[in-house]
Amino acid sequence: MFFYQLSDFPQLTELVENWKIIKEEASRLEDYNLNINRVDKDHEVVAEEILEKIKLNKKNGWVDGWNNKGEINKNWIQYGLIINDQEIPYSNMPKTIKLLKKIKGIKVAALNILKSESILGTHTHPEMITEKLAQMHISLDAPEPKQSYLCINGDFFEHKTGNYAIFNGAYPHFAINAGKKDRMILYLEFKRNKL
Ligand SMILES: [Fe+2]
Repeated sequence: MFFYQLSDFPQLTELVENWKIIKEEASRLEDYNLNINRVDKDHEVVAEEILEKIKLNKKNGWVDGWNNKGEINKNWIQYGLIINDQEIPYSNMPKTIKLLKKIKGIKVAALNILKSESILGTHTHPEMITEKLAQMHISLDAPEPKQSYLCINGDFFEHKTGNYAIFNGAYPHFAINAGKKDRMILYLEFKRNKL
């Protein structure tokens, strides 16, 4: 099974329904980069580095992603909000954090931008099986129609502003934004058995 139904995880309904609030808060964020290299590091290690920087500078910010060549990827960036049910401080998204804190069992919640004309190559997340996790994208801002997709094992989901997908990233998947605008989502990893 590549995709799940929202009815499988009713605790996520309120978050999905409030995507406009999340988008509004996200649109006000400063374009500030934390300068952290997250290549080949797991979420916990990255979160520790993020928290250290935040402690010093009293502000959260964006982290560059990775690519399949083991390089820093400035076309795919993340802004962490929750790690293991704990809020990342100084995130400047109070309403979004409030919505997220109602949900127990979140491993990661982050904003995630895939820039115009960019691809995140095929990869898998084996921990979706070993840690009993699932992933969700809520599309906050998609480019023009038929340009931005998540493909899981050959099944395509089109990002359209306001829609969502809940999926099993243990299967090989990639994301593409062939459009003229950046694509922004709220990204979630959560424990399937807690929701
Ligand atoms: Fe992925």
